Amino acid sequence: MKQYENVTIFNHPLIQHKVAILRDERTTMKEFRELVEEITTLMVFEAFKDVPTKTVKVKTPLEETEQTMVVDNAVTIVPILRAGMGMVNGVHTLFPTARVGHIGLYRDEETLEPHEYYCKLPDGIENSIAILLDPMLATGGSAVAAIDFLKKRGCKEIRLMNIIGVPEGVKAVAEAHPDVKVYISTLDRALNNVGYIVPGLGDAGDRLFGTK
Ligand code: PRP
Ligand code: URA
Repeated sequence: MKQYENVTIFNHPLIQHKVAILRDERTTMKEFRELVEEITTLMVFEAFKDVPTKTVKVKTPLEETEQTMVVDNAVTIVPILRAGMGMVNGVHTLFPTARVGHIGLYRDEETLEPHEYYCKLPDGIENSIAILLDPMLATGGSAVAAIDFLKKRGCKEIRLMNIIGVPEGVKAVAEAHPDVKVYISTLDRALNNVGYIVPGLGDAGDRLFGTK
């Protein structure tokens, strides 16, 4: 696959270990949900080494010192419904006070085109880093549409987090939105003839919420 400056693929062994269990068809809904959260936390930890900070004074039992803390409202979490919801708690583990906006998109099963059915974003989102969440980056249509929404709302800095992606989806996002930083835990081979990622993990929404 062509290399893109703003696309990071984590090939971290501890993340890969969890992705192996996530893919397994025997993994239960509860385990699947927990793994999605854990992988998201690990990815965010790595992707936000440059989060904006401020210096504060802290009085320890021994003396006063200076320490950095994350600035208020540094990030806003934006899951793409439904499956992105499974990643929200994983970000809240590291940014417990982050506000959450929602973008509802579903893929038409025939055309694979994304359709919007809901969008509610917090006031002031444009002054924070928007963390866009979706476990699966397949054709990239949903991610490109969600980024379009965020940019129309004035978001200047957007970071997309996906657990599994394929070269087609990476190309679509990187070429439509070269300024957006994309973080993917694992790059898979391709899309099959019905638009599913292979080897993949199946339908992320169904496995998270038990709908099939
Ligand atoms: C899945 C997935 C992404 C999208 C990826 O959602 O969670 O949003 O497909 O495909 P794309 O890159 O080709 O757009 P789906 O539309 O199945 O909706 P769901 O989350 O409600 O199950
Ligand atoms: N959405 C999913 O949930 N899984 C895929 O493989 C592709 C899109």
